[in-house]
Amino acid sequence: MKPSATRAGICLFSITFCAIALGDAWRSDPSVDAKVQALVDRMTIEQKLGQLTQQWGGLVQDVNPEARQRGQDELDALVREGKVGSYLGAHGAEYINRLQKIATEEFELGIPLMVGNDVIHGYRTIFPINLAQACSFDLEGIERAERVAATEARAAGTHWTFAPMVDIARDPRWGRVAEGAGEDPWLGARIAAARVRGFQGKNLSDPDAVVACAKHYVAYGAAEGGRDYNTVDISIPTLRNVYLPPFAAAVGAGVGTLMSAFNEINGVPATACPLTLKTVLRDEWAFEGFVVSDWGSIQEMVAHGYARDDADAARLAIQAGVDMDMSSFTYRTHLADAVKNGLVDESVIDRSVKRVLRMKYALGLFDNPFSDPDTEKSVTLCHEHRDAARALARQSIVLLKNDDKLLPLSSDVAAVAVIGPLAESKEDPLGTWATIGKADDVISVLDGVRERAGNSIKVLFAPGCDVRGDSTDGFAQAVQTAKQADVVVMVLGEDKEMSGEGHSRATLGLPGVQLDLLKKIHATGKPIVVVLMHGRPLAIPWTAENVPAVLAAWHLGVEMGHAVTDILFGDANPSGRLAMTFPRGVGQVPIYYAHKNTGRPPRQKERYTSKYIDMPWTPQFPFGYGLTYTQFKYDNLRLSSNTIGPAGLLKATADVSNTGDVAGVEVVQMYVRDLVASQTRPVKQLRGFKRVTIEPGKTVTVEFELFAKDLGFYNSDQKYIVEPGAFKLWIGPNAQEGLETDFSIVKNSAADTD
Ligand code: BGC
Repeated sequence: MKPSATRAGICLFSITFCAIALGDAWRSDPSVDAKVQALVDRMTIEQKLGQLTQQWGGLVQDVNPEARQRGQDELDALVREGKVGSYLGAHGAEYINRLQKIATEEFELGIPLMVGNDVIHGYRTIFPINLAQACSFDLEGIERAERVAATEARAAGTHWTFAPMVDIARDPRWGRVAEGAGEDPWLGARIAAARVRGFQGKNLSDPDAVVACAKHYVAYGAAEGGRDYNTVDISIPTLRNVYLPPFAAAVGAGVGTLMSAFNEINGVPATACPLTLKTVLRDEWAFEGFVVSDWGSIQEMVAHGYARDDADAARLAIQAGVDMDMSSFTYRTHLADAVKNGLVDESVIDRSVKRVLRMKYALGLFDNPFSDPDTEKSVTLCHEHRDAARALARQSIVLLKNDDKLLPLSSDVAAVAVIGPLAESKEDPLGTWATIGKADDVISVLDGVRERAGNSIKVLFAPGCDVRGDSTDGFAQAVQTAKQADVVVMVLGEDKEMSGEGHSRATLGLPGVQLDLLKKIHATGKPIVVVLMHGRPLAIPWTAENVPAVLAAWHLGVEMGHAVTDILFGDANPSGRLAMTFPRGVGQVPIYYAHKNTGRPPRQKERYTSKYIDMPWTPQFPFGYGLTYTQFKYDNLRLSSNTIGPAGLLKATADVSNTGDVAGVEVVQMYVRDLVASQTRPVKQLRGFKRVTIEPGKTVTVEFELFAKDLGFYNSDQKYIVEPGAFKLWIGPNAQEGLETDFSIVKNSAADTD
């Protein structure tokens, strides 16, 4: 363990935002530092800059043979000359071993490469998209998913993942909401830590561990208009209270690297921002890992109008603390001159080189730079990994509506019509960023239903239309198909290219003519279950109003068909809860539960209040919401005390009963509100959640610990303060419902136990 003073800084923050701080595994000990120093002493400036350069190009594997050979020869030469420290886009043990051989045997210093890739929601065994995973509220399940991803990735030669993406996202138009944990900093912080633990495992040098990279540092999710790469303009308290906590939690959990974002913060690109890269990251959090730029984000500071040219951009980034240049090659091209001309001190370069080399030592690459192709074969997409993917996929599904208990499907059903353009798709369940995921690995929803139905239930199918097209030619056949069935399962939503990077939408409804198709099928009078396949919260007011059963099933990965079928047929009881609010219409966004009250809180019927005249101001489905095949009742909310001191601990307890007929999982949620503060506070803030399984007819007492220090906030002087005053507290099933009580933080309370 590294020492005290600075470490305590992280701990304070990580206790505030993340219960668990571990993972010093990647930090070096003095003997490593000595080896690193000895190596740096032997390096030329060009070799140093090589270590700070991330080369893309593993993808040359995919182009035509002649170009591939030419491209490969050029890349090999760069590695041989020590001009590359890290590689992006290379896959497979054999291919990467070849590169490592060149790096370690033909480059005179023999420094191994560190291969990074976007292992975002699984490597080959593709798990649900990250937003869906967040809906499971299952930290252990998420950690397990990253263990699986790390095991497959490391076996295939990847040492570093550009994940977790921990950007808070409150605007579903932004395509990258698919990659994060949703709108809430508290939940986001815990998921960030779980994912770091999962990726990094016990020790980075283990053959099943990869170093994680918390991205995109920071506030990338606040892009204006939900348009990817757009300007961000937020207050410093919002930066501190909303966007930084998941990064703090990742650092607290021992994340080895961070990626600087594309956006600006307060008029300064995040890739050269001293406040976030130095003051917060290095001084306050004592982060000792390294920072990589996002793809081209150093060079893009020229377009931002912040750097004069590429050379200026390189100088600004390295001086701000961005250690490695991803793909714009500005360091390799310009920093030697900058050092020669006295614009950049060589010690600044050395500092970054040491951080990178230390990570290579921590990964064990100097001892063994190679991966084992046999292990790669045996772990890739193995049964155990598929089982973990199915379990998490099942838990990620959110039951939004279930009138008259249409679900689970009755055992009387003799014929099911599966209708919709996504029902048969094996490509789309992979979702965004399934880099090496393969459609052939996927169980489609139709496959899943057919497999489960066996010979006892007839399964009919009609696509009806395309995902985005405007042809209605398939409607008639779909209607005919529906008429022959007892129940219709409609698989509607977004294809995998409609979310993710560069895929923002200005509308949030069902694309193309899918809603028209749904209305046609609805007119047949057949009971309909809509299974949504999507990468973001959708605005589906007609569906929510008119269709009896709706599942938010996201892009669920290779086991999508099985997981959806488990829920449809009642082999599993839905347990997902929304990690992001569903709006009624795009005009409501950004919409999130932890909004401020304003001076004129919305009252639908009162004119001069904060609302719309043409749509309710409330969401379609709130944060934390989700139904199950049973019902839960909340009673008897009680606190250990009505007052606590600023360092105290309060216990809040409620009884939760399963009043239905089957066992179910309730995600019990605790929210608080600081009623009066020196800066206005949100109307509700999540401060605890627990997944509890409750048998029918049974009651479980659920207890939360609430530390007063978790009730503070950063003010505009950037100070974290816990203020005495009155609070409200709720325990309930989502951000809109729950039992309510009051308590106060008082100075010098007897209840102050710390
Ligand atoms: C994305 C990052 C990603 C990187 C490397 C960038 O365009 O913003 O999230 O890790 O590419 O693929």
